[in-house]
Amino acid sequence: MRRARAAVAELIAPVAEGMERVNEILAAQLDEDSPAVRDMTGHVGRFHGKQLRAALVLLSGDATGNSTDEHAAVASIVEMIHLATLVHDDILDGAEKRRRVACVNQRWNNQIAVLLGDFLYARAFALSTELSSRLCSRLLAETTRRLCVGEIEQSTRRYDFEMSQEDYEAISGAKTASLYSAGCELGARYPGGNEEVGAELAAFGWNLGLAFQIVDDCLDLVGTEDVVGKTLGADVADGKVTLPVLYVYARADEAQRSRIRDVYTLPDLEDRARLLREECDLGPGIEYAMARAGELLLDARKRLAGLPESPARAAMEAAAEFVLDRNW
Ligand code: FPP
Ligand code: MG
Repeated sequence: MRRARAAVAELIAPVAEGMERVNEILAAQLDEDSPAVRDMTGHVGRFHGKQLRAALVLLSGDATGNSTDEHAAVASIVEMIHLATLVHDDILDGAEKRRRVACVNQRWNNQIAVLLGDFLYARAFALSTELSSRLCSRLLAETTRRLCVGEIEQSTRRYDFEMSQEDYEAISGAKTASLYSAGCELGARYPGGNEEVGAELAAFGWNLGLAFQIVDDCLDLVGTEDVVGKTLGADVADGKVTLPVLYVYARADEAQRSRIRDVYTLPDLEDRARLLREECDLGPGIEYAMARAGELLLDARKRLAGLPESPARAAMEAAAEFVLDRNW
């Protein structure tokens, strides 16, 4: 965990000043007269945590020599969209905790969480209309579409134990990797042009984000809630069959497959993730999924190879290590 924390610090260091600006912009954008809204935006401010996506916008700008004085605003927009998706995701997942604090749907209720997510999303797009180029709003509107489609697909493919790895990755990519990818692409190309470098950085972000989601899915099964800081075991409880389980299920005999399906589907079971761990050895599935994440991160790092050496590029390479090492 110390190693992972050091990797985050290393990641942010080259863009520390820019991140201060990002936080000033966020504070100004989320400022509202309504005491209730202030209370809520103050609360979700505690979800910020690593602000990896925003940092990646700035790092991609620096690493490609493309930084502009609008990059901090672009990074803030990406961060607000990310926050909106988290608030909505926690409703869908019935989650209780995120970054060690109560989710909005718990501290308040689902209605408030829907509205607060919409508020954050609206602020993000309002700010994007103030930018000198439309690239940011165009790319992020398209990303939001993909993200929603990913979530819808995920929901309709619940309890699908026969899902191919390709489909799992397409869904995980859409719901998580797409925003990483868009952030990196915007960093490299905003306000326009620079398409080739943009495509390489988009691929870096996609692979990094997909690896992040695969590790997240492993932690959901075998992580420790106190360490990870959010509700775990939610995937099994919600019927999401993630890569480690797909791997184990595909190699199980029919009797065990039936018991795995029971753990997911029988009514009124408590702590289904624990029951699943007791029912089968998830070890080989976790190992396989982590190896796949490692492969994606290797590919991500290759995408940076054409860029000149710089502290920003080094930080992005460190980000890839952080993803594999993280246990919270
Ligand atoms: C996390 O998945 C989910 C996301 C990163 C995307 C959620 C997106 C939506 C709900 C669409 C919202 C749309 C708008 C316009 C705001 P997870 O549940 O596997 O991760 P977790 O463990 O962090 O909860
Ligand atoms: Mg969730």
